[in-house]
Amino acid sequence: MKIGIISAMQEEVESLVKFLKDPTITTSGKRSYYEGNLWGITTVLVFSRWGKVASSSTATNLILNFGVDIVLFTGVAGAIDRDLNIGDVVIGRNIYQHDMDSRPLYNRYEIPLTGVSYFSASEELNKMVSVSARKFLDTVITNSSILDEFQIKSPKFVIGDIASGDQFISDSKDVINIKNSLPSVKCVEMEGGAVAQVCSEYGVPFTIIRTISDTADQNSEIDFLKFIQSIASLYSEGIIKNFYSHYSQKKIKV
Ligand code: ADE
Repeated sequence: MKIGIISAMQEEVESLVKFLKDPTITTSGKRSYYEGNLWGITTVLVFSRWGKVASSSTATNLILNFGVDIVLFTGVAGAIDRDLNIGDVVIGRNIYQHDMDSRPLYNRYEIPLTGVSYFSASEELNKMVSVSARKFLDTVITNSSILDEFQIKSPKFVIGDIASGDQFISDSKDVINIKNSLPSVKCVEMEGGAVAQVCSEYGVPFTIIRTISDTADQNSEIDFLKFIQSIASLYSEGIIKNFYSHYSQKKIKV
C-alpha cells in the first residue's frame, strides 16, 4: 500500500515531511515528491501548486510514476454555505468544477465527454477522514490558543459537496451565484475538481479535505493569508496523523 498526499500549500507538506523516515526527493515537472515511510505506511508527499492544471499534472504524476494506491488531498477553502465558519472542515463528497461551461454543446457544469457534472470521493476514505477530523477537532479546541485569534470556538466537520474553479472567490455576488446554481456546494477551492477527475479516470480512490479559511467575500484575502500562515498546517497535520493511526488499526479496504 502506498499513499499519495497532495497539499495545496508547501507549509502543509513541510509539516508532514518532518515525520517521514528514509525520505528520497524526486524532482519532476517542477514539483518535489518526498517519498518515505510515514507512521508505518509508504507515502509520497507533494505540493500541488494552485489551480486545476497544476493539481491535475501533480495527481497524474503521483499515480503513473509513483504508483500510489490512494490519494489524500489537503488544503483550505472559502465557505459558500453560511453555516460554515473559519476553522470548520469540509470533507468532499461530490466535487464539481464551477467554471466548467461548454454550453450549448453540453449542459452547464457537465464535464465534456464524461456524461457527469462531478466526481465522487471514496465513501470509505471519507468515513475514516471523518473519524480523524472529529478526533482532531476535539483535541484542538482544548489545546490551542492560536484558535482564539480567529475566534474559532467549536469547529465542526461536514461531509459535503465542493466546487473547484480557476478563480479565487472574493465577492459575495459570486458566492450567491454559486449557491444558486449549485445549491449543495459547501465551499470553493481551486484544485479538488481536477484531482477528483484524474483519480476517477485512473480508478484511484481519493478524499478531499478542506479547512475553511475565509468566507469567499471581501474579507477573503486577509482571512486566507492569515489562516494559511498560522493554522492551516496544524489542521492538515493533525487530521492526517489521526487518519494514519485509524488506517493502520482498521486496514479498511477502499
Ligand atoms: N481557497 C481558500 N479560499 C478560497 C476562495 N475564497 N476562493 C477559492 N479558493 C479558495
